[in-house]
Amino acid sequence: MKKQLMSKQMTKTELIKLDPDFDLSLIKPAAAALRSGELVAFPTETVYGLGANAFCETAVKRVFEVKGRPQDNPLIVHLSKFEHLSEISINIPQIAYDLLEVFAPGPLTLILPKSDLVPEIVSAGLSTVAIRFPDNSVARALIELSGVPIVAPSANLSGRPSPTQAWHVYQDLAGKIPYILDGGTCAYGLESTIIDLSVADPVILRPGFITAYDIKKSTGIKITEFQAEQSGIEPDFQPKAPGQKYRHYSPRATVIILRENPDLAARLNNLLNGIEKFIQNKISANNLKKDNPQEISVGLFLAEELSKGLDLDYFKNSLHRSTCYNVRFKLESYNNQRGAADAAHDLFNRFREFDQLQADLIICSAEQMSGAGIAYMNRLKKAASYEI
Ligand code: TXA
Ligand code: MG
Repeated sequence: MKKQLMSKQMTKTELIKLDPDFDLSLIKPAAAALRSGELVAFPTETVYGLGANAFCETAVKRVFEVKGRPQDNPLIVHLSKFEHLSEISINIPQIAYDLLEVFAPGPLTLILPKSDLVPEIVSAGLSTVAIRFPDNSVARALIELSGVPIVAPSANLSGRPSPTQAWHVYQDLAGKIPYILDGGTCAYGLESTIIDLSVADPVILRPGFITAYDIKKSTGIKITEFQAEQSGIEPDFQPKAPGQKYRHYSPRATVIILRENPDLAARLNNLLNGIEKFIQNKISANNLKKDNPQEISVGLFLAEELSKGLDLDYFKNSLHRSTCYNVRFKLESYNNQRGAADAAHDLFNRFREFDQLQADLIICSAEQMSGAGIAYMNRLKKAASYEI
């Protein structure tokens, strides 16, 4: 009895490093484990997934337990071959095939009517099911070798940033699952675009790298763009993608968004004032004496145009004068000359890095609401407390 308890609590986690031209034999044990009802974390082109055999209810249940995920948040079924689609979904509309032809395999998830073969727990009791064909050689080989459809939420603890590198998964799930397949850094770094095709007017429920604009341009199909979330979500609010009602992607530090402003000097000034205000609030909230020297650690994730104009010594001196705090900065920047793809690619990784450094505050620059910027701002807003 005692032994059983022990083994349930602690599992030895094997991290399997895979090169781009990896040998299939390296993932065979993980594929066999997956098929037989164990959980395996694996890379996809978006983020790492925590995989389980979709037909095995106990395995799917374990996914919810391991992540600490609310039971009313359904999972995406991952497939490697189009012919398996009809096992998972029924009454598939033509538009699904039209979209898959262009965008699959790739970072796209479709909501379709569910087949009875899919256990209720997968779709949290909904009559629809989410399906996706990932485009990552490890993911595809793993699904293929396991011979079953694979449910895979992002491989993080519920509420934490989605993992984009194997060490992120290890941080959250070591000791809980037998295998993590390490395929390096995920190509996109943010989760797939989710499109609801179970309604008369298809709509994007979660923005990703594939946008309504891309779809219109390459297929002529009109999909309603993601509607930015309402603020102040009620606890009994029933969103179409149930995952949307939960707080997401949160690092431990407070996250603040630095608003756009064509005037760079004004934007940098906002940044300085925002940090000063944060420190002053901290002082008054904790009843701290101003003359008691304290330290604070701030992570900055900024567009290159901003970071180039930033004088950190000036910031440190100025903040020390106004608050008596010594501020430690960690500055990371991204290139946004061709849109927000770089920002989106690095966001979750930077959250985790800043957490490792025990940052108290993280400030990220806002991006324009087009292309990857829509998804970047969606994830950033879910993690952030306020804007400056
Ligand atoms: O890129 C991705 O999609 C990653 C990789 C691993 O494939 N997966 C992922 O899964 O992001 P997860 O579980 O973290 O997010 C799935 C989202 C949740 O917000 C969930 O509510 C929504 O999909 N979803 C799943 N089934 C649904 C359904 N039948 N109707 C509406 N939304 C659904
Ligand atoms: Mg997730």
